[in-house]
Amino acid sequence: FPQGQVSAALLAWYDRNARRLPWRAGPDEAADPYRVWLSEIMLQQTTVAAVKPYFAAFTTRWPTVEALAAAEESAVMAAWAGLGYYARARNLIACARVVAADHGGHFPDEEAALRALPGLGRYTAAAVAAIAFGRRAVVVDANVERVVARLFALSDPLPGARDSLYALADSITPDMRAGDFAQAMMDLGATICTPRNPACAICPLRDGCAAARTGTTEAFPVKAAK
Ligand code: ADE
Ligand code: SF4
Repeated sequence: FPQGQVSAALLAWYDRNARRLPWRAGPDEAADPYRVWLSEIMLQQTTVAAVKPYFAAFTTRWPTVEALAAAEESAVMAAWAGLGYYARARNLIACARVVAADHGGHFPDEEAALRALPGLGRYTAAAVAAIAFGRRAVVVDANVERVVARLFALSDPLPGARDSLYALADSITPDMRAGDFAQAMMDLGATICTPRNPACAICPLRDGCAAARTGTTEAFPVKAAK
């Protein structure tokens, strides 16, 4: 694929096949950074299906980051019960309070400033920058890692080859529609470029995929021996 072709093919696919998820803005609708952030924290170690009812409950009870910042910690912890990884909930409250107190209730719109907030690591800061603010950012979760490793038949083992993986992901990330591109990669990994038996026959990236071309899809991503 020439430069730009991967993102063009993927975005065309996404326009037809995007999953309709409650935290995603509709076409021509502005993303709400609070909803994007909340969903990304919930999705860190939890499946989309499990997150949906919690996301609905939280956004009904605390519709803005300022409402969440003003909540009793015990009420937020109780509402989180069942989602697991409770450090996420403690960071959630801490982050909401920092955004309310130090940022006037508005999430910062740059990756570096987002990264400084409680609970936002490399992935989450990049995801919020791209999805909520349209910033070009390299967004790599487990699904994206698998797609990129296959597209380029990355033979160096992960996690050692993390910098190479990020450089390859960077090379296909477009300047425009950064949030759609990130979510398209996630959706492709979740629905087509699956860990087992990827559906290469219907994949929009098939013509540019090194692993598909050589019939080695399931060999990637290569992981270091434990
Ligand atoms: N997993 C984490 N973030 C996601 C998103 N925005 N869309 C789909 N799956 C995700
Ligand atoms: Fe994944 Fe197959 Fe698409 Fe390559 S062609 S990105 S291996 S689904």
